[in-house]
Amino acid sequence: MSASQIEPFDAIDIIRTKRDGGAVEEGALRWMVDAYTRGFVADSQMAAFAMAVLLNGMERDEIRVLTDAMINSGERMSFASLGKRTVDKHSTGGVGDKITLPLAPLVAAFGVAVPQLSGRGLGHTGGTLDKLESIPGWRAALSNEELFAQLADIGAVICAAGTGLAPADKKLYALRDVTGTVEAIPLIASSIMSKKIAEGTDALVLDVKFGGGAFMRDINDARELARTMVALGTDSGVATTALLTDMNVPLGLAIGNANEVRESVEVLAGGGPKDVVELTVALAREMLALAGQPDADVEAALADGRAMDTWRAMIRAQDGDPDAALPTARETHTVTADRDGVLAEQLALPFGIAAWRLGAGRARAQDPVQHAAGIDLHAKPGDEVRAGQPLFTLSADEPSRFERALSALDGAWRIDDAGTYEASGPLIRERITA
Ligand code: URA
Repeated sequence: MSASQIEPFDAIDIIRTKRDGGAVEEGALRWMVDAYTRGFVADSQMAAFAMAVLLNGMERDEIRVLTDAMINSGERMSFASLGKRTVDKHSTGGVGDKITLPLAPLVAAFGVAVPQLSGRGLGHTGGTLDKLESIPGWRAALSNEELFAQLADIGAVICAAGTGLAPADKKLYALRDVTGTVEAIPLIASSIMSKKIAEGTDALVLDVKFGGGAFMRDINDARELARTMVALGTDSGVATTALLTDMNVPLGLAIGNANEVRESVEVLAGGGPKDVVELTVALAREMLALAGQPDADVEAALADGRAMDTWRAMIRAQDGDPDAALPTARETHTVTADRDGVLAEQLALPFGIAAWRLGAGRARAQDPVQHAAGIDLHAKPGDEVRAGQPLFTLSADEPSRFERALSALDGAWRIDDAGTYEASGPLIRERITA
């Protein structure tokens, strides 16, 4: 920035407008994002603005402008030269959510390109790249040339998102993280969608989770977030739909990294836990419908090995060995049922925190994860159990981690009398379209 540059707006006026419940006009909002990205608007001013948005919300047009300004802060990719439809999936994150792993090769098996530019885990929700890095040799960082070649040849790519996409969001997200402003729906929606729209996908399916293990505890907030994101995608020419899915209970039986890869491979082999298969199939159907294949027989591609073949090719293309043994932990600790009955409750959040404390997740972005650490569940809510039967097994490299993990799990499950269990509702609660 040159010292003589005259700025066309004042951050304080924009903050006051939002503080007083007004709508910020387009030029001012675009300037705010640009001036923050280049360091003219201070963190303190952007934090005050983010808090005003959290408290007073934004109009649909303001959210559209904010998203567009964040897209314009960085590069825009285009997959037009591929000559294939591209469709992506984004999950707002949950415990045991490994769906991207079987989903990307499953959808690519139908000739659609699936660019999954992913991140690492922070806190209790795991990161897709951390999971895949438990496969010996597998490489997350690809050049743009490698990404395009793999999309053209194999169709599915899961790799690290480059730093060039929506840099304004990167800076703003880090600020929100330390100023209590992550939960603002306009800010979450613009953050997620700016990256997805900048990525250049033709279509996008959102898995918006609600419940104790999700960002949004309340289904009404999740619905509002989903509607906001679907509108943003649609307004930008990205065909977008969303599913609202339950995240009160961990997904599947594996929570961690290597064990989630193992479970994903079971799904690709035509098996795997019922809930993981249900969600994988539902999201694949949504993605293929947006890619012009509403009648694709998704289950057949899991049963006859086509999805597995694409998985193996995808892993090999990134230097991974799909046949290599996955790491196992040095120590395990199994918790058993203390009475006969039915497993009535299994709370996602404490199980996610426990897996994190075992070493499966990281507290700071620069920390490594332990690929073999995690939790294997042996029963799910609704299952009848007998006293002494294993309920779940903790795995870690250092036994000293068990105590803190077990303390997170205090009160996280409950066994009631047999015959008293009532399911809380279906896993996939609603479908949101434009
Ligand atoms: N994920 C994002 O990328 N941004 C948010 O604001 C929340 C979740």
